[in-house]
Amino acid sequence: ADSGKGGYPHYMLKEIHEQPDVIARTAFDRIDLGAGDVRFEGGGFDDAFCRSVERIQILGCGTALHAGQIAKYLIEGLAHIPVDVDFASEFRYRDPRIVPGTLALAITQSGETADTLAATRLARELGARVASICNVAGSSQVRESDATILTYAGPEIGVASTKAFTAQVAAATLLAIRLARGRGVMHEHKARQLLEEFRMIRPKIESLLTDEAIARTREIARKHAGARGFLFLGRGVNYPVALEGALKLKEIAYVHAEGYAAGEMKHGPIALIDPGMTILAINSVGHVAEKTRANIEQVKARGGVTVSVGSDDLSHSIADSAVPVPATDEWLSPILNSIPLQLIAYHIAEIHGCDIDKPRNLAKSVTVE
Ligand code: AGP
Repeated sequence: ADSGKGGYPHYMLKEIHEQPDVIARTAFDRIDLGAGDVRFEGGGFDDAFCRSVERIQILGCGTALHAGQIAKYLIEGLAHIPVDVDFASEFRYRDPRIVPGTLALAITQSGETADTLAATRLARELGARVASICNVAGSSQVRESDATILTYAGPEIGVASTKAFTAQVAAATLLAIRLARGRGVMHEHKARQLLEEFRMIRPKIESLLTDEAIARTREIARKHAGARGFLFLGRGVNYPVALEGALKLKEIAYVHAEGYAAGEMKHGPIALIDPGMTILAINSVGHVAEKTRANIEQVKARGGVTVSVGSDDLSHSIADSAVPVPATDEWLSPILNSIPLQLIAYHIAEIHGCDIDKPRNLAKSVTVE
């Protein structure tokens, strides 16, 4: 029964290890370094299309929505297009307003999630064009979209999404750069720099998957498996990474975990902090690193146990334990930072003896409401 696991004890671990290939497959052939641009198959998302988009409404569920939240930071930051993100299940049952020039962007691994399909149908009825980021070429979501960016994650068997998520983030990064270039708001040099950095990500992902790197996440898991609860903190483009890190832990280890915008901590969750709580701060070098560092200090001052994940070495020197992640451009840091969080959740689930590939109560794709 484990013949498809390629020697790994679980599909989830196998799929985590596939990420260097998955990111390369999804991104690299679409990068045109010479032009400092991104090319999608069939000439999709051409300049005229990019210029015609006034607003983007991202729709999805669960992990895919977290990729969508990262996409919002990327698209607003790089392409200067206003972006809203909503749970498909909320969008479809409220009275959403779609302005002319709206592009609804569905993000979905399976392409069969009932709420995401219904929400994008509603967006279309209200006048939006529909694009999707999807992992299944022949899926309903792709058939119902005007344009699609396929992720090449391959079949994902583990119920907890790992490689499909990082592939969605990679695809969203490409889309943001294409929109920025197509609209003429990003200089060729800047795009080339970012794309060159993107092309260098593969060995960095691999470095997070060596025996030594994995042993480090196992050690963190061992140290913290007994915590009463977990708070994942992140800012900016790494805020949704915190949400996703917490979701993984809930899904496969059945441990209570919350993801929070680091700056919101003092508006409530700080009251939870005591030595029984583990606080994972995701912090990479970038324009908000200093702010998140200050949050780690605040947590420590209140007796919380801290783990820092990311490329900000100063955070590592403050935190009780550290998972260093290679440096990259801030915009690309979510792909790297997500990987140790997947592994930490995996190892905690292992310690608790959970059914990692088939967590209780969960279905791989929610095709009925
Ligand atoms: C991921 O770990 C989840 N099990 C779940 O949140 C999933 O991402 C969600 O149901 C959306 O699925 P989709 O990407 O196939 O639309």
